[in-house]
Amino acid sequence: MKVSPSILSMDFSRKEEEINKLNQTDAEYIHLDVMDGHFVSNKTFDEQFIKTIKSDKIFDTHLMIKDPLKELHKYVPYTTYLTFHYEAETKENILEYLKNKKDDCLIGLSIKPGTDVRVLDEMLPYLDLVLVMSVEPGKGGQKFMESALSKIEYLVNKKKVFNYKYLIEVDGGINEQTAKLVKGVGCEIVVAGSYVFSSSDYQTAIDKIR
Ligand code: DX5
Ligand code: ZN
Repeated sequence: MKVSPSILSMDFSRKEEEINKLNQTDAEYIHLDVMDGHFVSNKTFDEQFIKTIKSDKIFDTHLMIKDPLKELHKYVPYTTYLTFHYEAETKENILEYLKNKKDDCLIGLSIKPGTDVRVLDEMLPYLDLVLVMSVEPGKGGQKFMESALSKIEYLVNKKKVFNYKYLIEVDGGINEQTAKLVKGVGCEIVVAGSYVFSSSDYQTAIDKIR
């Protein structure tokens, strides 16, 4: 599995040092949690902050904002993957966007724990990534919800049958134990926030979940 450490759990007062420590690991991605205080109650950062991050890792931006289709163009220049929430838009608008997309960015869709994975069926052919939330979006350090496992299995199966291109990523409550569960059902990328940043050695934590 590939690993995408979420900087939500880093010490923001030592931003440069934290990013450097992460850069020294072999994590493939860096996960950037954008929260607007509306779609979720917390507020984090926006594209102005993202553009100051110095890293060669693949930027994996997770938008937890309202009206993402109006806002996402701001993020396109600064990230490789840009993921927004299915619940934040209508299905019609998402499909229209995906079918006519001109943005130079890989697009992902995320679903909350309470959302049925089958709602994504029509969109799967157009997606570059599907992000399954295994906690309620909004904060780090919550407990992994096992309901994510059958969603991952469903996405693995669809991908195989239809030869879809999307990557399957899971986010929330990942540690040494829960990483084994998601790996066992075929998850391709794990996001890990508190588990990595609370560890005294980021590389060891990454090795353990991989
Ligand atoms: C939660 C965020 C996650 C968060 C995960 O809304 O989307 O990316 O950083 O944190 P942990 O790994 O601590 O559950
Ligand atoms: Zn996230």
